[in-house]
Amino acid sequence: MARADLQKKPNEVAAMFDGVARRYDLTNTVLSFGQDRRWRTRTARALDLQPGERVLDLAAGTAVSTAELASSGAWCVAADFSLCMLEQGRDRGVPLVAADGLHLPFADQTFDAVTISFGLRNIVDPDAALRELARVTRSGGRLVVCEFSTPVWGPFRRIYMNYLMRALPLVARKVSSNPDAYVYLAESIRAWPDQRELGERIHAAGWDDVAWRNLTGGVVALHRGVKP
Ligand SMILES: C[S@@+](CC[C@H](N)C(=O)[O-])C[C@H]1O[C@@H](n2cnc3c(N)ncnc32)[C@H](O)[C@@H]1O
Repeated sequence: MARADLQKKPNEVAAMFDGVARRYDLTNTVLSFGQDRRWRTRTARALDLQPGERVLDLAAGTAVSTAELASSGAWCVAADFSLCMLEQGRDRGVPLVAADGLHLPFADQTFDAVTISFGLRNIVDPDAALRELARVTRSGGRLVVCEFSTPVWGPFRRIYMNYLMRALPLVARKVSSNPDAYVYLAESIRAWPDQRELGERIHAAGWDDVAWRNLTGGVVALHRGVKP
């Protein structure tokens, strides 16, 4: 199994991430020209975590995002269903949980904040995952979704889409342990809803006060919401 198709099947998605796990962090940094670190810092800032708060980082992969959040002093748990991705995060000093985002092994209202970085797009049913995240969040708790989105300036959007479909698979062939997975990455970004549509879907899944902010001209968007 090399590459999940856009009608994602959960076992194919998990197998695909198992296949890229070994060089996942390096590949991300190369393909994003080092922007990934900035996107993670901005995600942590948007969550405004306080020491002692309980935080779920869903689809945490190698827990690189979780470690960034934990530097706030909050108690942060990484959840993912790819065991190989979690294995790569074993030395990051955060608790790791093997879990499917559609059936989280947590009681209702467990967390003060929940977040998902570059993972919602990969989940077979993103709307159900947003509802499941709402279930495990306390009333008044926060959601931040960090995800690829649509660049807002037309000329830049065209250059970026060209990069996604042509250059990115070529670069991935040099650095990734499973280059085909990065063809899926490019296609899945193109198929993903823009900022406004995702905001509407987050609201429909049970979150209030939904707003978003563009990063890197809209290559990435941070969506926020509050559990009613
Ligand atoms: C692109 S990686 C993002 C990892 C990390 N959050 C980051 O920012 O680098 C997407 C992750 O979503 C996970 N994933 C996809 N569907 C999932 C599901 N239903 N439940 C849990 N994890 C899932 C994959 O295993 C993969 O590790």
